[in-house]
Amino acid sequence: GLEPPYLDLEALEARSRELLPQPTYDYYAGGAETETTMREATAAWRSWRLRPRVLRGVTEASLATELLGAAVGTPIGIAPWAYQAMAHPDGELATARAAAASGALMTVSTSANNSLEEVAEAAPGSPRWFQLYRLHSDRHTEDLARRAGDAGYQALVLTVDVPVLGRRRRDMGHDFVHRAGVRMANRPPEGEEPTLDGLATGTWTFDAIARFGEVSGLPVVVKGILRGDDAVRCVQAGAAAVWVTTHGGRQADPCVASAHALPEVVDAVGDDAEVYADGGIRSGSDVLTALALGASAVFLGRPIAWGLTTGGERGVAGVIDGLTAELAHAMVLCGLPDVRALPRDTVTPAGVIRR
Ligand code: FNR
Repeated sequence: GLEPPYLDLEALEARSRELLPQPTYDYYAGGAETETTMREATAAWRSWRLRPRVLRGVTEASLATELLGAAVGTPIGIAPWAYQAMAHPDGELATARAAAASGALMTVSTSANNSLEEVAEAAPGSPRWFQLYRLHSDRHTEDLARRAGDAGYQALVLTVDVPVLGRRRRDMGHDFVHRAGVRMANRPPEGEEPTLDGLATGTWTFDAIARFGEVSGLPVVVKGILRGDDAVRCVQAGAAAVWVTTHGGRQADPCVASAHALPEVVDAVGDDAEVYADGGIRSGSDVLTALALGASAVFLGRPIAWGLTTGGERGVAGVIDGLTAELAHAMVLCGLPDVRALPRDTVTPAGVIRR
């Protein structure tokens, strides 16, 4: 059913498809080129198998943890995704309130329909990161980073996998007209600065990490990492964390899955930085797999969009709470009491017999 915490994400997506205008649904649901990356994401998590431990006396699981020092009630966070007012009139404000109610960390996109200050005020005191894109000039981008620090965001997430926008064929068919009429709240006022074409971050190099860290006064998370060598360079350049993602299959395609890139990245950075992962995570066991492979947290994109579309604030909370309940269940089934201590040998590749 659709009632939390018994979560049927496919039903939520099907209902969203009925509720949304076709171009909006396609923008949320779609991926780049042949959509191979997007299609393979969930299957890649499920190419791992759990190895339950028994007789450990575990009847419940503790899900509280810390992300860059911020206390959260669940390791399942909300990924930055754009234009949330197209899903629900309250947009990012509803998502922020739901995140606070569920004890989840929210990452707020530069491409939000509410300003970063408005989102911060919607749920004061709850953990929140700001995801930075370059929408306009360098000056405007640095201004956003500074404002995120001033507004109490606890980290700055640099999304680095958009040197150009991926070729999203569904959107190209609609010519992006659906974005007309939604407010790009983090843009400078019309006419104040020259407009750049899109949100490309192609001019950024590794020194952007220290620069934006200084401007904002915040730890920097680099989102868009799929290689161990890149992860190491980010950490050497000052990143506090790296975020393994294919951008929901919306950029390079076909591209290595997060579930396959994650172990390499975790091994490469060791204890020098936190590692997160997202992409196609749709069950509590998917979450457990990612955490066992070394992620400190996972993030959800589209499931949050479907929760917001179908149920506003309550719908988003239902998605987070439903998956969190599933994660707790999976941990107990595997004899694991604490989300902060999930051994790597909890998972093994499917079809491989260990001797
Ligand atoms: C995104 N994503 C994204 N990432 C980012 O850094 N800034 C952004 O503004 C957006 N916008 C955005 C819009 C929509 C509609 C989607 C679906 C995704 C990527 C997002 O943060 C995340 O990496 C993926 O969505 C995770 O994959 P799943 O959970 O959607 O499979």
